Amino acid sequence: MARETSLFSGRPSELIGRQVAGYRIEEEIGRGGMAVVYRARDLRLDRPVALKLLAPELARNDTFRRRFSHESRAAAAIDHPHIVPVFEAGETDGVLFIAMRYVAGSDLRHLLDRQGPLPPATAVRIAAQVASALDAAHEHGLVHRDVKPGNILVARGTDSDHPEHAYLTDFGLTKKSLSLTGVTTVGQFVGTLDYVAPEQISGKPVDARCDVYGFACVVHECLTGQPPFRRDDDMALLWAHQYDQPPPLTTLRPDLPAPVDAVFAKGLAKSPDARYESCLAFVAALRTALRGDEPEVVGEAVAHPPTQVDLRVVEEQREPEGLVERGEPGERATEPKPPPRWAEPFFGSRR
Ligand SMILES: Nc1ncnc2c1ncn2[C@@H]1O[C@H](COP(=O)(O)OP(=O)(O)OP(=O)(O)O)[C@@H](O)[C@H]1O
Ligand SMILES: [Mg+2]
Repeated sequence: MARETSLFSGRPSELIGRQVAGYRIEEEIGRGGMAVVYRARDLRLDRPVALKLLAPELARNDTFRRRFSHESRAAAAIDHPHIVPVFEAGETDGVLFIAMRYVAGSDLRHLLDRQGPLPPATAVRIAAQVASALDAAHEHGLVHRDVKPGNILVARGTDSDHPEHAYLTDFGLTKKSLSLTGVTTVGQFVGTLDYVAPEQISGKPVDARCDVYGFACVVHECLTGQPPFRRDDDMALLWAHQYDQPPPLTTLRPDLPAPVDAVFAKGLAKSPDARYESCLAFVAALRTALRGDEPEVVGEAVAHPPTQVDLRVVEEQREPEGLVERGEPGERATEPKPPPRWAEPFFGSRR
C-alpha cells in the first residue's frame, strides 16, 4: 500500500508538517531498527509528544500486535517518575504508533558514545533511577525484555543534587522475544545482542530476572564503556551470554574496588535464580562495593553474592535443560564450535 509505505519509509522530510492520528509531525528525532521517532504536536491538547511509528511489518505480525497492545496498555497504566508516560497507542493506515512524553535530552547510548565510561557516581545515580523504574514495572507484572542504553532517555535534572533525570522506555517493543525463540530466519534484524539474557536466547520463559541481567550489562557499560561480552559475531556473542564467565569488571577499571566484581558476577549470573532479586538490590550492592565494602554487608535485602567458586558450584548443579552440552565449568569458549541446536533457527545449521 502506497500510503503505508510513505508513512514509515518515505523520506523523513515528506512527513514533516503532516498529520498522523491527531498529531502534527514536526521533526525526526531518530530511528532504530524497527521504528522512526518524531517530535510531534498533539493537536487535541496542544502539547509536544514523541510519536513513534513502528515498521509496517510489525503490524502484520500477530504475536507482535498482541504484545504491542497488551504491553502498551500495561506500560501506560504505570505512573512512575522514571518511566516515559505513554499517552496513546494505536494503529493508523496499517502502521502501529505510540504517542508518549517528549523527553528533551539524549539517550544513554548517545551519552556513552560521546563521553565513554561515566564517573561511578553518575553511573550509580542513573542506574538507581532505571532500577526503580524496572522494579516498579516488575511489580505490575511487566517484563521489559530489551533493557539497553538506547531505551534509557536522559534529560536534565532538577538541580545540582539531581543533575540528570533518567527515563525507561519501550516496554515489550522488541523483536528479540519473537526471534530468539526461533520465529525468525537467519539474518533478520533483532537489534543489539549485547544485553540479552541467557534464558531469552534459549527460548525459556522470561521473567523480571532477565531484566536484572540486561540492566547489569547496561551498568557494566556505564562504568567501563563496554558491555560484559564483546565478540566478533552474533553467534559467538550469544554463546558467551550463555556459557562464558564475564571478565571481572576491575580488569577494565582497575581503579574501582575489588568487591565490585562479585556484584557483577551475581547480576550477570547465567541462572536467573542466582541473580539479585531486584534491580534496586543490585544497585544497593554496587553502591556498597564502590565504597570498597564487601557487598554482603549491604543488608537483609541482598543475599550473599556468590564468589567465583559459588558460581561454578551453581553451574555444575544445574542440568542443561535440554540444551546443548555444557563445557567445563568456567571454561571460556574461545575455540570455534559448531552452532548449538538452539542457534539453528536463526543461524542455520552448518552441518
Ligand atoms: N519519548 C522520547 N522522547 C525523545 N526522544 C525519544 C523518545 N523515544 C525515543 N526517542 C529517541 O528516538 C530515537 C529512536 O528510538 P528507537 O526506540 O526507535 O530506537 P532504539 O531504541 O535506539 O533502537 P531499537 O530499534 O533497537 O529499539 C532514539 O535516539 C531515542 O533517543
Ligand atoms: Mg528504543
